[in-house]
Amino acid sequence: MAKKTVRKNKPNPLWGGHYASGPAGIMAEINCSVDIDRRLYAHDIKASKAHAAMLAAKNIISKKDGQDIQRGLDKILQEIEGGKFKFSRALEDVHMNIESRLKDVIGDAAGRLHTARSRNDQVATDLRLWLRDAINGIDAALKNLQKALLDQAGKHSGTLMPGFTHLQPAQPITFGHHLLAYVEMIGRDRGRFQDAKKRVNEMPLGAAALAGTSFPIDRNMTSKALGFDRPMANSIDAVSARDFALEFLAAATIAGMHLSRFAEEVVIWASPAFGFIKLSDAFTTGSSIMPQKRNPDAAELVRAKTGRLLGAFTTLLVVMKGLPLAYGKDMQEDKEQVFDATDTLHLMVAATAGMVRDMKADTGAMEKALATGFITATDLADWLVRAANVPFRDAHHITGKIVRIAESRKCGLDKLNLQDMKKIDARITKDVFSVLRPENAVKSRTSLGGTAPALVKEAVKAAKKKFL
Ligand code: ARG
Repeated sequence: MAKKTVRKNKPNPLWGGHYASGPAGIMAEINCSVDIDRRLYAHDIKASKAHAAMLAAKNIISKKDGQDIQRGLDKILQEIEGGKFKFSRALEDVHMNIESRLKDVIGDAAGRLHTARSRNDQVATDLRLWLRDAINGIDAALKNLQKALLDQAGKHSGTLMPGFTHLQPAQPITFGHHLLAYVEMIGRDRGRFQDAKKRVNEMPLGAAALAGTSFPIDRNMTSKALGFDRPMANSIDAVSARDFALEFLAAATIAGMHLSRFAEEVVIWASPAFGFIKLSDAFTTGSSIMPQKRNPDAAELVRAKTGRLLGAFTTLLVVMKGLPLAYGKDMQEDKEQVFDATDTLHLMVAATAGMVRDMKADTGAMEKALATGFITATDLADWLVRAANVPFRDAHHITGKIVRIAESRKCGLDKLNLQDMKKIDARITKDVFSVLRPENAVKSRTSLGGTAPALVKEAVKAAKKKFL
């Protein structure tokens, strides 16, 4: 066992005035967040600049100090972006790293930046600014995925395939129509992120530690400068709320769930047993033992990574549950989840868009699959309703009996002869054969939102207008 867990280092220069010695090694270790939160640097500097400008405008600090702070922060931004900044773990987090460096650069004026501010309102502000940008980035990525889906849907507005329920052949549909279902889902995902953004885009800054400040600050000024919709109304809520991050993670999880469903379909479609699509060399991997393999790993990983998004959401929800107001260090755990979920979702969306662009529909295989599963049985029942005025429940029963004959003969409904069908119900005429062909079945589904190729073509156009 290591003997010396306590490092005899100095107290923290930023908050250790009443401390005689520094933290135990393990204390510093569990407390340190800079490896994660350094990603906030640009937003932290942006918020500090707005805060300093407001302090100067309100004569809370001198104009000269204000200018020095601006200059120093600009220099630090350059240093970080140029890879010249050394983040120190001893300084705990990104905020103290930047403030400490500011002191090196401009001297004592640096100490005035933290007037009327606490790290509690600072970090909440930074994360909200970061998330606002992240949401914009995710929106653009999702839109790009919709475009890829719409391009394929446009190509395949008339391509027939079996539609499934319970993964059993149900009714014929078009491939384009199926892809458009995902365009709609992703449209709602984008809407969820936009909704979340409304609550992300409120400013905690000026709440200070939790109670507000006695300095005559102007929170409307900083809010405006940072592009927030408004300053948050309650200082305690401002520093302790993380529902904005949870909402983002929930939206990410739901979007991931949609991507995982698509990924699962890609896995199924690309399996030779289905063979509905082919993925090229670019989106499959081989096996180290089986020379014939083309595994859809990207789809499988998209499917799997959804768990990680839900993990992030669950983690933060559990961190927040039961936390008393206001700020607690527990909340420092928020950023790792938000960052990881953002990166994960970006990867998933980009890989999915890549697969959508890459995949090639095997229209022959789709057509062949239409021959199994008596896929036009509903059309036969509907025909009985329309042509012979049979109530639908009875038509369903009659059709069931006809399916049984086809099953025993091992042939499709359209391959049965009229006599066999007439034996079940004398009202059936040769006209029935027109609806037993999948292309006619599909063509007839012209109800709003239906799968008829003419409608799908229009739906692609409408979706392009709505989403792109
Ligand atoms: N690194 C901290 C976080 O991410 C910043 C806020 C610390 N506040 C405090 N009172 N120690 O939550």
